[in-house]
Amino acid sequence: MSTHPHIAIVGATGAVGREMLLCLEERNFPLSKLTLLASARSAGKTINFREEQLTVQELTSKSFDGIDIALFSAGGSIAEKFAPHAANANCLVIDNSSAFRLDPDVPLVVPEINREAAKHHPRNIIANPNCSTIITLMGLAPLHQAFTITGIIASTYQAVSGSGAQGIAELEQQTNALLNHSPIETSVYPHQILHNVIPHVDTFQESGYTKEEQKMLHEGRKILSLPDLKVTCTCVRVPVMRSHSISATAIFKNTPDLQTARKAITQSPGVELVDDPTSALYPTPLDTTGKDNCLVGRIRHDQVLENSLTLWIVGDQVRKGAALNAVQIAECLANPS
Ligand code: A2P
Repeated sequence: MSTHPHIAIVGATGAVGREMLLCLEERNFPLSKLTLLASARSAGKTINFREEQLTVQELTSKSFDGIDIALFSAGGSIAEKFAPHAANANCLVIDNSSAFRLDPDVPLVVPEINREAAKHHPRNIIANPNCSTIITLMGLAPLHQAFTITGIIASTYQAVSGSGAQGIAELEQQTNALLNHSPIETSVYPHQILHNVIPHVDTFQESGYTKEEQKMLHEGRKILSLPDLKVTCTCVRVPVMRSHSISATAIFKNTPDLQTARKAITQSPGVELVDDPTSALYPTPLDTTGKDNCLVGRIRHDQVLENSLTLWIVGDQVRKGAALNAVQIAECLANPS
């Protein structure tokens, strides 16, 4: 891999694609060239990158010649169709969808947690985990290092950005409609999201859990290399623009203590402790919006389960939950250590 790779963004016009551009720019990513790809609808549009106007091109099976790394953020069906073309053209795919995440030949990577896994990618594809899973594990992995995790009980409070540009537009539309006394339209979500919470993210399965809820289980096991990890999760959509929050109870093999837990969080890259509840200091979604780091607070001994801590974790879904994590994986490839 070149130390100055030619990068492509597939889905460059979407909410995550645009954030990828920002992350590449802010982190001064050492790229030789950037190619922007999206649907035919967007071909010809221009997007600013490092004070240059780049023209969006239509994604085709021939788009990947000469490209070293393609950051995919255009959904599962586009990934399934086009990632194999990219891989055949010797272009390494970092895919944000769930299409390949559980494939044993596709590493699933959060660089702060399992950076080493990115080195072995026999299909030329690396998967970016689910956004809630990334943010939850950013808070729990340091505690796993300290006390060895065996189970997670979680409830998520997920922003509309998780549904892409359309989710953001729906919350904006409903807000404007309410202020203008015009009818509130619902299309992305099964219910009005404004002034509401909806315990339904992704499709329901026979078990009664949604696919999103099961991602925390299966992806958590893969990222932490813990095939026996137990997870139960309820995923909830809330009328927040772009940061996800998670209330998590983590159960450990060893007895946790608060001082070690706080130190573990403080010393971990990409995560910060904001935990002084008596001064009303705990993370909120607005605190992480547009920021790289995930925030952790409200750490306490769980009063129901033994050897357990309950905590509150917040992170920017578009950024660490998607775009930033993908760009960090690309950094691991361009600058392996
Ligand atoms: P476009 O804007 O041209 O539709 P989001 O999840 O925020 O809605 O973004 C989805 C991204 O995926 C957009 O950049 C969108 O491009 C892109 N996309 C959707 N359908 C296709 C397609 N058929 N080919 C290439 N890109 C696509």
